[in-house]
Amino acid sequence: MLKKISFVAIFVALISIPMMTFSEGSDEKAKELFVKYKCNHCHTIDAASIAKDPNAKVRKLKVDPPDLSTVGEEHDAEWMAKYIKKKVKKEGLKHPKKFKGSDEERIVLTKWLAALKSSGDEVQADEKVEESTEAENK
Ligand code: HEC
Repeated sequence: MLKKISFVAIFVALISIPMMTFSEGSDEKAKELFVKYKCNHCHTIDAASIAKDPNAKVRKLKVDPPDLSTVGEEHDAEWMAKYIKKKVKKEGLKHPKKFKGSDEERIVLTKWLAALKSSGDEVQADEKVEESTEAENK
């Protein structure tokens, strides 16, 4: 029951948290989470300069893990948040790996992924991150 409530709470939060909370700071955080939870054992994100972990040992998979540079064009954050928890399937298949982090981390991560689109926005976002960290360091 509690589990159900917290799940509902997440998605209410996902919908109601306005874009303003999706600041450049959370971009950096999301990248860290992507590596921390070993998403890069299978996936690359060329657009964010995330390469595959060369030391990763991954079992043979039914489907090759895609590069996620433009994943935001295909899926929204809400769907991805469910998908990496194995709550929804893609073409009849569950995601091979279940996300082990907190719900908050899952939201940060999937919101960032949802913003990855091919228009070159990501490059601009990267530049903003650098600017904002420079500003913080002053
Ligand atoms: C064991 C390897 C593996 C790991 C680790 C892994 N994935 Fe995946 N992921 C896959 C595979 C394989 C697919 C494609 C599955 C399919 O199409 O049925 C996929 C698909 C996806 C998709 C959908 C992509 C699309 O174009 O439809 C997203 C989003 C995703 N993964 C996010 C993540 C995140 C976030 C993490 C880290 C928390 C992660 N993955 C960790 C193997 C992995």
